[in-house]
Formats: sequence, C-alpha cells, structure tokens
Amino acid sequence: MNRNPNLIYLDNAATSWPKPPQVAAAMTRFLEETGANPGRSGHRLSVDAARLVFETREQVARLFNAPDPLRVTFALNVTEALNLALHGLLRPGDHIITSSMEHNSVMRPLRHLEKRGVAVTVVPCSPEGFLNPANVESAIRPNTTLIALNHASNVTGTLLPVRAAGEIARRHNLLLLADVAQTAGAYPLDMQVDNIDLLAFTGHKSLYGPTGTGGLVLGTRVDESKLSALKQGGTGTRSEREEQPEFLPDKYESGTPNAVGLAGLGAGLDWIMARGVNSIRQHEMTLCRKLMGGLREISGVTVYGPRDANLRTAVISFNIAGLPPSEVGLRLDEDYGILCRVGLHCAPAAHRTLGTFPAGTVRFGLGAFNINRDIDATLAAIQQLVTDHCSHGTRRHPRLLHQPRHAD
Ligand code: ALA
Repeated sequence: MNRNPNLIYLDNAATSWPKPPQVAAAMTRFLEETGANPGRSGHRLSVDAARLVFETREQVARLFNAPDPLRVTFALNVTEALNLALHGLLRPGDHIITSSMEHNSVMRPLRHLEKRGVAVTVVPCSPEGFLNPANVESAIRPNTTLIALNHASNVTGTLLPVRAAGEIARRHNLLLLADVAQTAGAYPLDMQVDNIDLLAFTGHKSLYGPTGTGGLVLGTRVDESKLSALKQGGTGTRSEREEQPEFLPDKYESGTPNAVGLAGLGAGLDWIMARGVNSIRQHEMTLCRKLMGGLREISGVTVYGPRDANLRTAVISFNIAGLPPSEVGLRLDEDYGILCRVGLHCAPAAHRTLGTFPAGTVRFGLGAFNINRDIDATLAAIQQLVTDHCSHGTRRHPRLLHQPRHAD
C-alpha cells in the first residue's frame, strides 16, 4: 500500500484512500493478463473478463443480500445509479418523498423532474440530521410512488431510518430507494432486513474500489418493466435486434463496461468481506469517538450531528468560531499535511438543516486505514489553529505538529 507518510488523509467520505494493495494489483492483472472486452467476443480472454465482471456482481449481491446477482446493475457512480432510479421510475403526476439531508445527487434530479410534473416533498430533519419516520408517513399522498433517502448523511454521518421508512413503504405499497454511498462497506446492510427496494451504491468510498464503479441493486418488489433505462446501446446480447433487451442486467448496461474498475472493486469487496464490515465499523467508531470527543473539548469548536457515535458514521463536520471553513482546510493542508473537505459538500439542503449554510463546515471522513496517531495529530493541529487564532488572529508560519509516519 502506497501512501505518503507526511500526509494524514481524512477525506474518505469523498473517496477512500489508500486502497488495499490488492485493488491496484487486480487492476494491473486485468490490464496485463485479461484485457479483453467482457461478453462481446467468444474467445478465452473475453470469457475471462466476463467471468470477472460476473464475480464482482456476485460479491455485490452477497454483501447487500440482494435477491439475485442479475439484479445488480453496474453504473459509473452512485449519482448515475440514483439518476437511473429517479428518472427511470418517476412520471409526471407522481409524488416522491425525500429528506432535507440529501446530497445533490438526489436533490438535483428531483428539482429537474419537478419541472416536468413530478411533485416533491422534502421532509425536514432535526438540526442533528435526524429524520422522524412518522413525518415521512404523514407526507404520503394518493399519488406517492417512491421514498428516497440517504442511509447516512455525507455531511454529519447521521444515520437515517431507512429500515423504518422501508416498512412504511411496504405498508403503503410504495418503493424505497436508499442512497448508501456513505454506508456501503462501513455499516452492515441487508436489503431484505433493511426493506430496501432500490439500493444505489458507489464503489470508490467504503467499498475501497476505484472511481468509476457503482451501481443500482433492484429488490424483488421492483418491476423492471416500469423502470426505464437511462441509455440504450450494445450489450453483446440479442445483437440481431435493434431494440434494447428487457432482461437484467443488460437492460441497464449498454456499452463496454468498466471491466478494469470492476476488477478493482472485486478486490476491494474481497478485502472488506475478509476483514468484516462489523470490524471496520468498530475500528472507525473508536477513532470517531476519540476525534469527536477531542474536538468538543477545544474551546471555540462546534461539532455538528449526533453526539452518540452509534447514531452516525465516521464523518465529522465542525467549525471553529471566527475561522471560515476554507481557511481551516487550507491551513490543515498546508501547515499540517491533513487533508479534508470543506464547504457545502454538494449537500446545500443538509447545511440548511444544520444551520451552516452558506459557509458550510470542515469535514473529516475517517476510513479503515486511519490510525490512532492520525487522531492525536489532528486534535493537536486543531488546538494549535485555535490557539494561533486567539493569540494572533492571523495566519502564522507553517509548522508541522506531527512526525512523519511510516506506512503501516
Ligand atoms: N459525495 C462526496 C462527498 O461527500 C463526493 O465528498
């Protein structure tokens, strides 16, 4: 695993890094030894490539307890998967319910669809990002067809009540779409137990795959004849026909797939399953508790989201009184080698909910490769920033607080 010992990477909510070494190895192996286009030709390398893609499909199905690997459709990222679900299901006259903690990957397609006659209700969440499922139920109208929720906020890590919303969906004969971008691989997920009908995931965050991987998993309550495809094209199947095949996953997978990316995703999934999602969650929660607790003790620091780590993922948003998030992010990067994301995190509705719009927050996203020393150095850096700000009110000369680390 190659990582810079002088950097502390706390931007895992944007994309995980480093990746397990097996991920790059699988991608290199694919490019050097397999290389062919999966499912397009009958020769051995094409068959090998198709087998590899199918194995990754099976692993995804296993991780989420999907009803059938063929109901896993691959996409470029979670945004594409969410767009497939929203554009594919919603028709003018339909009503959808979502929450005020959503990312723009849900909000923007919905605002677009709203102009085309889809009615949208955004159920307000509390300032910690909590959603009361009763408010989802009371928003249901006769024309409601879908509930779309993220499983955890990308801003505060707050877990949303997906399972309860799924129960409501079942009672009212609606579908539940879950955006699991922040939880897949970092929090146990089971489509059957969690009542998820459409599960949109990304491969490059807590599944430790490369960018350019993700997908939409369809539960058995989804009738694919009612879910339109976003695109049509070659699938390597039924090539005698000019119409798109109706069967899965080909209906939604036109064009040469990202086979090298899926080889990497498969290796990421292997790594997660060997380590165990529960053990990854425990590791991240231990670090998260320590970081949140330490931040809260620093005067002038406000931490957003739930205080209880059990109610969140390891994503922490905070602000320092008197210092804009952009300044904090710049100083952490330049002076301390600590990498994070600041601003609105593509989730303006969530920041309005927290009361942090328009400046946003500083966000730390922890991952499986963070260690205790990262947290100690980060807390020391924040304490120093606050002290410098109080004593000088201006930017001081760069100073490294943490010792260079060796990869471990
Ligand atoms: N949605 C990603 C984030 O929260 C990119 O940073």
